[in-house]
Order: sequence, then structure tokens, then C-alpha cells
Amino acid sequence: MSNDFYEVLNNKVAHVEDVLSRKGVLREEGYQHTVIEAMNYALMGGGKRLRPLIMQEVYSMFGGDDADIIECFMTALEMIHTYSLVHDDLPAMDNDDYRRGRKTCHIVYGEDMAILTGDALLNRAFEVALNCSLNKSPEKSVCILKALKLMASKSGIYGMVGGQVFDVESENLKKANTLEEILFIHRLKTSALLQIAFMAGGILAGAPEKDIELLSIIGENVGVAFQIKDDILDVTSTQEVLGKPIGSDEKNNKTTYVNLVGLEQSEEDVKKYSEIAIDSYDLLSKKNEFLRELIISLVSREK
Ligand code: IPE
Ligand code: IPE
Ligand code: MG
Ligand code: MG
Ligand code: MG
Repeated sequence: MSNDFYEVLNNKVAHVEDVLSRKGVLREEGYQHTVIEAMNYALMGGGKRLRPLIMQEVYSMFGGDDADIIECFMTALEMIHTYSLVHDDLPAMDNDDYRRGRKTCHIVYGEDMAILTGDALLNRAFEVALNCSLNKSPEKSVCILKALKLMASKSGIYGMVGGQVFDVESENLKKANTLEEILFIHRLKTSALLQIAFMAGGILAGAPEKDIELLSIIGENVGVAFQIKDDILDVTSTQEVLGKPIGSDEKNNKTTYVNLVGLEQSEEDVKKYSEIAIDSYDLLSKKNEFLRELIISLVSREK
């Protein structure tokens, strides 16, 4: 990937940070200020901002031009992703102490507050997304409702939560998960939120149904590639680079993609799923070269 690509990427990430600070950060006041502080801490703690970035790129690719709508949905999705991480790190789940280069939410604010922080981020996400629906044209309102429905279902038991359920139930098994089971987990716990990013970006811009179907396939396969890479980095990287502990999967006795097929095959499969995504991407009725490069760049990401 060229230096130009990374320069453009950094500028776009800075834009997402600006959107989050305007639409996501709350005033730390009232008797409930502790949980608001914890929400701001978790939300503004860095991270790659991949999901809102993708959503914005797809939205503008399909001609979307309502900054208020897309900024509300970008913020909502990053809040849902952040809540999933706050809960994922809890002692009852992966029990990890670092996230995005800082102490995890429950280490700083306590387990009780971290549970409530996750709950609050999830609810606030839908409130933020609903905020943009006021006073819009009937056409835009229909798109907003469709995007809200998608966001609700892909975050829940048929999406991220469902994947996390099977993920934690798969710890300490006498018999390792099958590849099919691991792919089920990856598609739900990780692809589902990436599908929101790709699909809601298109839905909000009023993209044709055929494109939305392709965006679903793209999100699914980018998500699988992304989670296989996450499993690889849990073995091969360092906490300094990742900003989160390595060896978390082994500590929790998880069957990962890597211990099932080995490192070399896993790297091959990251490429394979990424190429499947690109094949569908190239069939879309609109083009966005930056987003295409972004998908390809994830294959060789280091964090
Ligand atoms: C971490 O997601 C959780 C997974 C689905 C692997 P990211 O790797 O996108 O985390 P941040 O947002 O950059 O911290
Ligand atoms: C979690 O997968 C994905 C979520 C839905 C949060 P991991 O447990 O592997 O994510 P990390 O490695 O802690 O970021
Ligand atoms: Mg986990
Ligand atoms: Mg984890
Ligand atoms: Mg991981």
C-alpha cells in the first residue's frame, strides 16, 4: 500500500474522531456522571475506527450527502462496537486488562460500571441514530428505518451477541470446535458489525437492492478475514503494537482458526476471504478505489 493511501486513511480516521467527539461524547454531569465518564473513556480511547470509516465511504460512494444522517449512524455503530469490547474484556468473558493501549473499562471503573457502560452505550447508540430521523423526507425516513432494523438485528442474537454466546460456550471444550463452528462464530461475532458498516452505508444512501446484497457478502467475508487475522495477531504480535494483550485466546482455552489449521494456512485463508470480498466489490454498480484498497490493506494489517 502506498504512503498516499496511509496519509488519506489517517485524515479520514481523524474525521471519524471529530464526528465521535461531536455526536458521541456526553457531558460528564449528574448523579450518573461516573458511567458517562466511563462511556467517554471507552469510546474515545483510540482504535482503528474501521466500521464508521467503511460506513461513510459506502454512503458517499452511493451518492449519500446528508452529513447529519451518516454521522449519527457512524457514531451509533462505533458505540455498539465499543460496548461489545467493554463486555468482551470483562472477567466473566475474556478477562483482559488492556484495550486500545489503555487499561480496560472495568479495571479503571470497576466491573459494575463496565457492565452498565456497555448497556448505556448500546442504548445511547440507538438514541443517537434516532436523533437524525427527525424532520427528514419520507424517502430518507424509510432508509433510516431500514438501517435501524439492520443495526438492531445484526447486533443481537442473530449477529454479534449470538457469536459471542457460542464463542464463550466453546471455551474449555473436551473436543475442539470444528472449522464450520469457528466460521459460524466469526461470521456472527465479527462479520455482523462489519455488515452493518457496509450495508447501512448503502441503505442510507438509497443504493439498489442488488448492491445491498453484494455489500452483505462483502461485509461477511471482510469480517471472516478480519477475525482470522485477529486470531493470528493474538499469537504473533505484541501488546505494544496491538494495544491489547496477546495470548488471550490461549489463556481462555479457545479453539481459534489458527490452532485448528495452523498459522500458514490461516494467512492463506485471510487472503482467500479478502479476495472473495473483492470479487463481490468489483460487481458493485459504483466505484470507490480508496475503500477497495482499504479492504486489501486489512490482509497485511499489523494491528
Ligand atoms: C476488535 O475489533 C474486535 C474484533 C472483532 C476482532 P477492532 O480490531 O476493530 O478493534 P479497534 O476498534 O481497532 O480497537
Ligand atoms: C471479540 O473477539 C469480538 C467481539 C464481538 C467483541 P475477540 O475476543 O477475539 O476480540 P479481541 O481480540 O478481544 O479484540
Ligand atoms: Mg472474545
Ligand atoms: Mg477478547
Ligand atoms: Mg482476539
